[in-house]
Amino acid sequence: MIRIRIVLYSSSLVLNLLIITFLVSNAVESDNIAIYWGQNDNEGTLTETCATENYSYVIIAFLNKFGNGTTPEINLANHCDPSSDDCAKLSTHIKNCQRKGIKVLLSIGGADGDYGLASTDDAKNVSDYLWNQFLGGNSFSRPFGDAILDGIDFDIENSKGKQQYWVELAIFLKSHNTSTQNVYLSAAPQCPFPDGQLAKEWSMICWIRGSNGRSR
Ligand SMILES: *[C@@H]1O[C@H](CO)[C@@H](O)[C@H](O)[C@H]1NC(C)=O
Ligand SMILES: *[C@@H]1O[C@H](CO)[C@@H](O)[C@H](O)[C@H]1NC(C)=O
Ligand SMILES: *[C@@H]1O[C@H](CO)[C@@H](O)[C@H](O)[C@H]1NC(C)=O
Ligand SMILES: *[C@@H]1O[C@H](CO)[C@@H](O)[C@H](O)[C@H]1NC(C)=O
Repeated sequence: MIRIRIVLYSSSLVLNLLIITFLVSNAVESDNIAIYWGQNDNEGTLTETCATENYSYVIIAFLNKFGNGTTPEINLANHCDPSSDDCAKLSTHIKNCQRKGIKVLLSIGGADGDYGLASTDDAKNVSDYLWNQFLGGNSFSRPFGDAILDGIDFDIENSKGKQQYWVELAIFLKSHNTSTQNVYLSAAPQCPFPDGQLAKEWSMICWIRGSNGRSR
């Protein structure tokens, strides 16, 4: 199957990204399109975004602090206040999207933030955190309540640490993937190929950027 994917980005640091994927030999129109949600106060709720039926993937952006012993933090602009339990209200919205067959992923990284992996142990620790807080694991303090996200998107733009640990993080996450509970992994590498941070081998879905790439 030939896949051509085009990614449109706003140029602002606060990313408001639109990913458009053309799946040449596949039928359903919304199969072709994914969107990043969470950095634009005017973009409506997740439920509204999914109700357009324009998207088959909605990627919540971003978890932009994590790794190396950092207390992880999400940033969803003014959609919710992560310092209280406020973002748990997304739980209902996430489920509304999933009921429509839309996959909901969490994007880690972003252009703005403080993240990086220091070691294999650190990658394991972050993997456990993501699994227990956002995916099929358990925790008393899940930021999005009991909604179980479908996977993790890697938008690694300015990380500290070595590239190899991102691959290890992906492998740890992938170890949770089963036939009953799939864990989707995607990545938005920079335009220059191959990407400086991400190896291309491990990702199930690779968003190709149409803009906002860095030349090097
Ligand atoms: C959804 O797609 C339709 C048709 O392409 C377009 O007119 C509309 O603006 C889109 N809605 C959103 C919220 O992107
Ligand atoms: C492990 O991760 C948690 C949450 O991500 C963090 O609070 C803790 O400091 C980390 N531990 C190490 C040894 O990095
Ligand atoms: C991890 O934290 C230590 C101590 O603050 C710092 O020296 C090191 O550069 C950091 N490593 C990464 C990959 O961020
Ligand atoms: C996850 O499991 C499903 C079903 O077993 C499989 O089709 C898919 O390729 C797996 N994904 C990864 C990332 O291994």
